[in-house]
Amino acid sequence: MAIQWFPGHMHLTKKAIGDRIKNIDVVIELLDARLPGSSANPMLAELTAGKPALKVLNKQDLADPVRTDQWLAHYNQLPDTKAIGLDASMTAPAKALATACFALAPNRGGMVKPMRVLICGIPNVGKSTLINTLAGKRAAKTGDEAGITKLEQRISMADDFYLYDTPGVLWPRIIVAKSGYNLAASGAIGRNAFNEEEVALELLNYLIAHYPANVEGRFKLEGVAQMTDEVLLEAIGRKRGALQGGKKINLQKAAEIAIYDFRAALMGRITLETPEEFAEWLAAGQKMDAERQVKKDAIELDRKIRFKKVPRPDSRSAS
Ligand code: G4P
Repeated sequence: MAIQWFPGHMHLTKKAIGDRIKNIDVVIELLDARLPGSSANPMLAELTAGKPALKVLNKQDLADPVRTDQWLAHYNQLPDTKAIGLDASMTAPAKALATACFALAPNRGGMVKPMRVLICGIPNVGKSTLINTLAGKRAAKTGDEAGITKLEQRISMADDFYLYDTPGVLWPRIIVAKSGYNLAASGAIGRNAFNEEEVALELLNYLIAHYPANVEGRFKLEGVAQMTDEVLLEAIGRKRGALQGGKKINLQKAAEIAIYDFRAALMGRITLETPEEFAEWLAAGQKMDAERQVKKDAIELDRKIRFKKVPRPDSRSAS
């Protein structure tokens, strides 16, 4: 699927993170608990390599709790990494975040060595919601302060604990096809940048294999595990009265219903990937990307060779 969008402030954000990172003690990456692997920005991994990382699985209220535990265990066994689950209903998430940050950077704290934390995350992952809760009355917009770019906001969570916010950005080329679909299904990608029917079919395909009972419960259907994604999309359309011109199913409308119901967790708490699945998709995506690069290099080399062979007009007239 061709998911395309304008990378917007990506370059500026990249620069802002690059400039700030040397004075950062812990990088918090907000991930969508329904798609932790796909919502992790590979660009960020490069920019923040070597820094202690806190992975926050946000919107855990929408995700499958069993799978959230699998993802937390996966991240917690990585070096210099901790992971916690959060959601907007938690009235005081600051304590959990601070505890995890001090565990990752135990030598920080106090006025002389304040804890300096960078917070990143893709659009719509819930960063503003979390920051507003964290900031409360202590919110300090310091964009005009020397050394803090306009792209950044510094929030002082305590006298010795600073949080630097960064704009939510996506990366321009997603090499894992499944990640593109999962990001679109979650709402991270603007609706004009993808085909809803295609995204819904991919979503339903996964739900048929992993959450058939959830789909049956929501749409009052039977035998979902035996259906193809196309048949299921039609069945959803029929059940919900998404019709056009007589009895024909309006597949666009049916797709919108399936995506909306997933986003609002009306089919229950669902997670679209496990750590193992994502690792497989990533390996396949990287292999395809490497092959694509080899082809591109071969075309470029061929072009250069042919260009060299073209006889120059003056050399012909001389002979
Ligand atoms: P962003 O800054 O990362 O772009 O995300 P933002 O905080 O604006 O949140 C995006 C949407 O996700 C908002 O919903 C917000 O309410 C919702 N959200 C944030 N955190 C959580 C969470 O932990 N659980 C759930 N279920 N939802 C969460 P919206 O519909 O776009 O706006 P609103 O009308 O709800 O404010």
